[in-house]
Amino acid sequence: MRAQAPYTLAALPARRKLNQNESPFDFPPELKRQVLERVAAQPWQRYPGFAPPELLALLAEHYGWVADGVLVGNGSNELIQSTLSVTLGAGDRVVAPSPTFSLYRLLTAVLGGHYVPVPLGDGFVFDVGSLIDAAQRESARVIVLNSPNNPTGSALPEGAVERILSQTEALVVCDEAYQAFGGPSAIRLLAHSSRLVVLRTFSKALGLAGLRFGLALAHPAVAREIAKGKLPYNVNLMTLAAARTALDHAPMLAARAREVIEIRDRFVARLRVVPGLTVYPTAANFVLLRSRSLPAKELFRRLLDDYGILIRDVSDSAQLSGCLRISIGTGEDMDAVIDALEQILGQSVSGER
Ligand SMILES: Cc1ncc(COP(=O)(O)O)c(C=O)c1O
Repeated sequence: MRAQAPYTLAALPARRKLNQNESPFDFPPELKRQVLERVAAQPWQRYPGFAPPELLALLAEHYGWVADGVLVGNGSNELIQSTLSVTLGAGDRVVAPSPTFSLYRLLTAVLGGHYVPVPLGDGFVFDVGSLIDAAQRESARVIVLNSPNNPTGSALPEGAVERILSQTEALVVCDEAYQAFGGPSAIRLLAHSSRLVVLRTFSKALGLAGLRFGLALAHPAVAREIAKGKLPYNVNLMTLAAARTALDHAPMLAARAREVIEIRDRFVARLRVVPGLTVYPTAANFVLLRSRSLPAKELFRRLLDDYGILIRDVSDSAQLSGCLRISIGTGEDMDAVIDALEQILGQSVSGER
């Protein structure tokens, strides 16, 4: 474990916070009030429901799956951990595209498993054939597919999960933290395969990152096994109430996600004509770019120090050298990013001449 990098993030203060793929919209005050009233009406000295049946039924209806195949977690991170914890033994192989969400590598190491990264193709598109080859060669126990993929924004092509399920023996974990913003979902495949787990979160499109709520969808027999890796009473009363309220207002929250998509598409179109950048296609609420005319760390610093814009520097790995990730904020945030980039990179491009 000493060789593993911990999962942490320095909390740098900034006027525009575009570094964690959160929603730019706070949970509406009226809904916050409803959550607080719901919680105030309950006895706090009692444990919360173990697997609250009413909430599980609502989640099942919302996502189009069966209630006994739904598990709730303290963020979807917790369900990544429980899924891997009941699946991996010492030396078991986990195949995942690279780069991807780093928690998978860390948790695999914690559990004594062996992590096998498979590079994404040119432009960070998924290389489904290579993933299948690696899973077959390594007799993978688990394949992790994060679509749209963090930090690249790339989505799996249609039909990829079917192909991977049919050509491998692994448990396929589809982390769909960003699926509300684009790309296909694997949920409909749950009816055909018990080797599939789909993870969703309320932290991104639904704007509840601060309250920590996520869920796993799986065949009921598989969900029962994953539940053994979860701590009891893992989701507190407040979070259960907030999840319930979010589901009651799902159409309104979905409209906000659509607004983020519109802001993203306008932003990406403008970003493409800023000099000195390569912009990768994205189906998520963030965009990955490569800085060609200025070192990424310098661009990151200048955005923060001179313009109060905090983005994510992901440039440390060889595959992502020169790369930065920008979360989609409000329209005003993204206008400010474009203005700042034009000023910084306009100068550096003319300075190069
Ligand atoms: C791919 C992916 N999965 C899961 C998470 C964590 O979600 P949660 O807040 O539900 O734990 C993130 C957060 O950045 C993510 O990028």
